[in-house]
Amino acid sequence: MLIFGELWKIIDLVLHLTNLSKVLDTISRKTEITPTDVQHALYMKDIFGKALLDYQNGNYSVDLITSTNISEEDTLPLPYLFRDYSEMPKLEQKALQLSNGNILDVGSGAGSHSLWLQEKGLKVKAIDSSEGAIAVAKKRGVLNVELKPLLEETETFDTILLLMNGTGIFQELTDVSKYLKHLKSLLNPKGQILIDSSDISYMYEDDDDGGQWLDLNQGYPGELDYFLSYKEEKETPMKWLYLDFETLKTACLTVGMKCEKVMDGEHFDYLARIT
Ligand SMILES: C[S@@+](CC[C@H](N)C(=O)[O-])C[C@H]1O[C@@H](n2cnc3c(N)ncnc32)[C@H](O)[C@@H]1O
Repeated sequence: MLIFGELWKIIDLVLHLTNLSKVLDTISRKTEITPTDVQHALYMKDIFGKALLDYQNGNYSVDLITSTNISEEDTLPLPYLFRDYSEMPKLEQKALQLSNGNILDVGSGAGSHSLWLQEKGLKVKAIDSSEGAIAVAKKRGVLNVELKPLLEETETFDTILLLMNGTGIFQELTDVSKYLKHLKSLLNPKGQILIDSSDISYMYEDDDDGGQWLDLNQGYPGELDYFLSYKEEKETPMKWLYLDFETLKTACLTVGMKCEKVMDGEHFDYLARIT
């Protein structure tokens, strides 16, 4: 009995040390590989990609379910991720119209924007960190598509597109400079970044009297914990960042870039052009 107890302690210690070394490995790789990459490789289940693949393969039965730390469950209809130009918000249509030269579509999802640009004869590369999304974009006919998180991209472009709350990919306010600096390094001279986001402070409004319950000690209001589920499967919680225009503009200035508002959307959203 005593021997068994000692043996179990040793097994437990080995398991603990193995786990510890994985964690240390993750931290030590953090400088060369981004948190997004690490999270994706180690923890993400690619539920988003699975849902896109189901839709693409004709197995559409239910939608994605989203929620955040400040909002109730909502549906993200799968057909929306396969929208054509006429179904896109005006703000996205404008971004496509302004795109020129060699274009990078970051977080391309099912490839709807890339497909439109490609059909117009423009040169576009689509990247996404979701395997399923990349498979779908390929199946839909996007010619230049790569499974690659933004921070691992190294080519240079005339236009970089980040659409459907493009700032979400930055995850947290403290990471914005890192992403902007990287995006800047991917721009050709006279290049532009077209990105959309929203001022979500309206989400903190109290329905009854219009007052706000925003707690300023809780950090920036656009930093959300985002939860995704599909067919009873829950994705690992992720961080998703909404930036109001003034904050984005200030962040751009700190990395030596200029940010102008191209247009407002219909619901606290906007399209910005960063050069
Ligand atoms: C809200 S979806 C938008 C998809 C597409 N742009 C659209 O408008 O339909 C965000 C996409 O960004 C991808 N993504 C998230 N983080 C990323 C990163 N660091 N690098 C590249 N893609 C990323 C997700 O896999 C997802 O496909």
